[in-house]
Amino acid sequence: MCGIVGSVSSKTNIISILLDGLKTLEYRGYDSAGISYIKDGNLIINKVKGRVKDLEDNIKKESNVTIGIAHTRWATHGKVNETNAHPHNVGNVTIVHNGIIENFSKLKHKLKEKGYEFKSQSDTEIAAGLLDYYYKKYKNIDKTIQKFIKKVDGSYAICMLLNNDPDTIYVIKKDSPLIIGKGENINFIASDVPAILKYTKKYYILEDYEYGKITCNNITIYDKDGNVLKKDLKEYQGSDLSSDKGIYEHYMLKEILEQPSTIRKTVNPYINNIQDLLKLPDLTKYERIDIIACGTAMHAGLAAKYLFEQYSNTKCEVSLASEYRYQNNFLNNKVLSIFISQSGETADTLAALKKVKEAKCDTLGIVNVKESSIARTLDKVLYTEAGTEIAVASTKAYTSQVALLSVLALSNAYRKNLIKEEKINKILEEFRSVSSILNSLLESTNTYEKIAKEIYQKSDIFYIGRTIDYALAMEGSLKLKEISYIHSEAYAAGELKHGTISLITENTPVFASATDKHINAKTISNLKEVISRGAKCYLITDEDIKEDNIKVIKIKKVSMFIKPLLTIIPYQLIAYYTAKLKGCDIDKPRNLAKSVTVE
Ligand code: M6R
Repeated sequence: MCGIVGSVSSKTNIISILLDGLKTLEYRGYDSAGISYIKDGNLIINKVKGRVKDLEDNIKKESNVTIGIAHTRWATHGKVNETNAHPHNVGNVTIVHNGIIENFSKLKHKLKEKGYEFKSQSDTEIAAGLLDYYYKKYKNIDKTIQKFIKKVDGSYAICMLLNNDPDTIYVIKKDSPLIIGKGENINFIASDVPAILKYTKKYYILEDYEYGKITCNNITIYDKDGNVLKKDLKEYQGSDLSSDKGIYEHYMLKEILEQPSTIRKTVNPYINNIQDLLKLPDLTKYERIDIIACGTAMHAGLAAKYLFEQYSNTKCEVSLASEYRYQNNFLNNKVLSIFISQSGETADTLAALKKVKEAKCDTLGIVNVKESSIARTLDKVLYTEAGTEIAVASTKAYTSQVALLSVLALSNAYRKNLIKEEKINKILEEFRSVSSILNSLLESTNTYEKIAKEIYQKSDIFYIGRTIDYALAMEGSLKLKEISYIHSEAYAAGELKHGTISLITENTPVFASATDKHINAKTISNLKEVISRGAKCYLITDEDIKEDNIKVIKIKKVSMFIKPLLTIIPYQLIAYYTAKLKGCDIDKPRNLAKSVTVE
């Protein structure tokens, strides 16, 4: 996590460039912010605990600054305070860092023996110390960086200033993303392209173990042995740069309401007719599909598992990337591994992907951000067209992932002759009407606000469901937890009575969805079991169910390939209105970051 931005120019004042960049990168972490620049030969560091706007108040009047680096932090080592905030300066070296230095304790011990003293608990200060130590020892920056790469374990994207070299920014990269933007008499460094798009669309991507030297009119990139590399200058092709909240109070609400169009845009190339559906990759040669992802993206995978197994008769295993990367994965050339990621930068997902690539097995990705690290590593990518998702709680990216996986499962079922053409055409027709179906569901604001009022003061809430509805329950529960800070649990409806039902007391809210007609009656029975113990129940369903003590939220009857896209809408909006009633920071919930680039 953490966002890095840097710039060096011949005469432009770069302070507002760095602040703009940090604001764009705040999705990567917002515990603290800091900036360092060299002015009139003096190194200046300014750090705050809090948001970029607090830093801005301190330095916005600063002028004639032509070189600087800046950082927005998601704490990994050490408390959230000003001392642990970046940049960190040791001797001649000042750095900002994204990643984790895994052997920092050992390095700290050795540096202390050499006489170094440290002020913070941050691993980054140790990295700065090590760079300073080698720089003093070798008096040569190339040797310093090459030695650093050899000695340091873990992940790092580092941007560095040297006191005695006021015209150059140095960068080093391993396992955390970093790009170098090229301008006219000005160059830039950033964790992610959008941070510099206002100023240039041209950029280089730094790969692992590469390092670079950047001045106002020169960019040189080296491999770990100091050989100069000839890199491709990329040009950003994306169009959706808008990060404007418009009339909405929160990005999350805006993004929820964008779903009719983001889903439609994502599946549009595949839903006009069966020929279009067959543009999707042919998966029939695979005996097993593995889906690997984190958080909400993993929940999208769980919904897809049901569709792949039930309708295309293909075994599908879903794994959390953080677990998958350390497990025996039983891979062979009959397994397709599908990686799902909104950001395309999630460290665990990327590491799991690299593991499958090393095993030389096929990979396919469902990714939202073009040119992201995961997108670049995959054999094949299908892009979701959710546009930029700013709110930390993922909504429109999730539904785009589910929609894309759903048409993929549908095409697989068709290729395997498991669904008749007539039925496929009907489902495609429903996909083409998805915007209007969702719009009517999104408009029931009163229902969601009313439920939010009933639950916002509760401390425990349960979400239950069976098969695909269990996958939806997991996502519904995560949405509520992450933005409203109410403890909630998702449970397979049939499993409650094996222990968890002991937590149900008078008025405990229990949410369920029942959208799979073969087993809906079973879920209703499970609701009755909790009602008998005092629970207050809410049910999302497409069936005509009228039961005492169950408040029903009705969704339209559509094919199972579309239904999860509907079921999730009430869950998203109930979480949103609940968090709003609690006065939570909805777009930037505590302790979280949008892009999780540490393991
Ligand atoms: O960028 P990714 O899709 O790889 O991110 C995965 C998770 O970190 C992400 O979905 C997270 O769970 C969201 N905050 C949930 O709303």
